[in-house]
Amino acid sequence: MTAVASSVESAAASSSSGAIATPTPLGFTLAPSAVSSRMLNLRVDAAVVTAFLEATEHWPVQALEYKSMLRFRVAAILDELCANTLRPHLVATLLDRAHGAMQVVPEGLDRVEQADAMVKFATAVAHLVGRSNFDAMSGQYYARFVVENVDASDSYLRQPHRVMELHNDGTFVEQVTDYVLMMKLDERNMVGGDSRLLHLDDWEDLERFSHHPLAFAEMRWSAPASKKVTADVYHPVFDVDRNGRPVMSYIDQFVQPGDLEQGQWLCQLSDSLEGSEGVLSVPNPVGSFLLLNNHFWLHGRDRFASHPKLRRELMRQRGVFTGGATLRR
Ligand SMILES: [Fe+2]
Repeated sequence: MTAVASSVESAAASSSSGAIATPTPLGFTLAPSAVSSRMLNLRVDAAVVTAFLEATEHWPVQALEYKSMLRFRVAAILDELCANTLRPHLVATLLDRAHGAMQVVPEGLDRVEQADAMVKFATAVAHLVGRSNFDAMSGQYYARFVVENVDASDSYLRQPHRVMELHNDGTFVEQVTDYVLMMKLDERNMVGGDSRLLHLDDWEDLERFSHHPLAFAEMRWSAPASKKVTADVYHPVFDVDRNGRPVMSYIDQFVQPGDLEQGQWLCQLSDSLEGSEGVLSVPNPVGSFLLLNNHFWLHGRDRFASHPKLRRELMRQRGVFTGGATLRR
């Protein structure tokens, strides 16, 4: 085991017990975000971003797609440029129930022409904390997708003129989904459409719903054709973390209630989440990304104002933590 790995594991272990030991940041800053002290804002210095792109320029994104191991190499390069201080902060923040979320801003990466560099940078950050899952929608370890004014898809992912309700990712796949990374690659003619986020501990009705007899009832989850996942999965809406606190795996669009009682309860749960005073509205500029602990943060999106030339391009990665776990498993 390397010194870096061992220091990260100790940071992860201490974070799960509440006392976080992390080194002084070098090459980046970490501070509470403007929208909530729960979410941290991580700004990576332009000099580090530039050095990272120079050090990895001989590996285009396609190389990272073809060779999984290179995703970890670019991750290590980024951490080395920060004197190995970045990884412990990422792990500690994402595993800490009090936080578990950050907005990452790589300085100088803010134009759509830099989209490949953005994907590469986000890949490096994600692979300092985990390993991104295969994304069946794209056939890669990440997915890029465009939202435009007119949409003909079969879910609310790309439909601009309505709210996308709060949900967790990974509800209808067998893979564990510990983290969600959502990056903005491009945005034009956009009014509205901010991310909506809710930390479970800020939800007024958490105890009421997590203690209901249906909270741990197994339910069926089934996705539409565009997700390219054909088999249903079965799990309850709630689970518990290593400290016995409630976590969720829930999405309104894909849960298939088995009877009137389940259907009614799920509708009440959805209404309660959507009406929570704890919901945050988070603008995410081009080049920035949100990185969330998917077990105790729900995410969604606000509606956009209509515009004939509206365009937004996003990139997502979802995966498992390798430096510690949220769930008992
Ligand atoms: Fe999602």
